[in-house]
Amino acid sequence: MTTLNDSLKQQECDISLIDVIQRILSASKDISFRLQQGALAGILGATEEENVQGETQKKLDVISNDLLKDALKASPYVYGIASEEEDFAVPGNDGGEYLVTYDPLDGSSNIDINVSVGTIFSIMKTTGNSDLAQDFLQAGTNQVAAGYVLYGPSTILVITTGKGVSMWTLDNRIGEFVLTNDKVQIPAQTKEFAINMSNQRFWAEPVQAYVADLLAGEEGPIGKRFNMRWVAAMVAEVHRILTRGGIFMYPWDGREPSKPGKLRLMYEANPMAMLVEQAGGLCRTDSERMLEVAPTEIHQRVPVFLGSKEEVERAVSYK
Ligand code: AHG
Ligand code: MN
Ligand code: MN
Ligand code: MN
Repeated sequence: MTTLNDSLKQQECDISLIDVIQRILSASKDISFRLQQGALAGILGATEEENVQGETQKKLDVISNDLLKDALKASPYVYGIASEEEDFAVPGNDGGEYLVTYDPLDGSSNIDINVSVGTIFSIMKTTGNSDLAQDFLQAGTNQVAAGYVLYGPSTILVITTGKGVSMWTLDNRIGEFVLTNDKVQIPAQTKEFAINMSNQRFWAEPVQAYVADLLAGEEGPIGKRFNMRWVAAMVAEVHRILTRGGIFMYPWDGREPSKPGKLRLMYEANPMAMLVEQAGGLCRTDSERMLEVAPTEIHQRVPVFLGSKEEVERAVSYK
């Protein structure tokens, strides 16, 4: 049986990177266990706190963040951490070389209804910048590894170190992730789209026009009948797309016009972009390749169009 450590060594990851990944995974196993216990573990419901983006934190947002933070701070190889649930970058260890960004719990509105959520992570190297917040502001092309752990009916790790994408299913009997797909590929074409249709009236004209053409089916200019899905957890949408193709969009909308989108570049869009590209798909903002966006702040938001190559190309061709 190929273990994750063997696989990472075959991908020429050094011991320090493997250590960082394994610490994320040990925290994720703990999160997975608590999610399975649900109400029995007292993890449902909200706190009275808000995060830096003005969202009310769920209890499990905070618990997951602390589990990951404690696990990573204990690694001698981690130089700094940035999280959705931390206002500022958190220092790790001076001798460390890796920067880790993460969304501890993605889709947290799903926790209380027993629907899929996940942990998203991205790993880069420090540039040696003495200002830690600035150190993080590297384009997604600098990621050395990225992935997510999906907590669904199964707990599944999906990971890339830039040499393709593999999926690993947590075997609770042995407490280890077991390889279940070693060559994830997204089909170039699809008949399935995901967007929060309730925001339709707030979208910009090109997104209105594109989705109208999707809805027009066989009679419309695209000439295909499309199906729609919306799990309200990016991690579950991306997992579906990595498994059977599709397009996922969270575009800019006019509800809060000054925000460029809802999703966050450094710990949602970039790690998903690396996975999707490594699986043969595309991930773009409305104007450029996601992985080439020059970040200006850790919690920066971006519009996101990702998935099957030909469909994403079509979506962003509307002007
Ligand atoms: P988070 O729970 O980490 O704050 O992220 C939620 C995000 C993303 O996972 C999902 O795609 C989107 O919010 C759902 O948004 P809607 O509320 O518009 O459905
Ligand atoms: Mn949130
Ligand atoms: Mn999220
Ligand atoms: Mn989150």
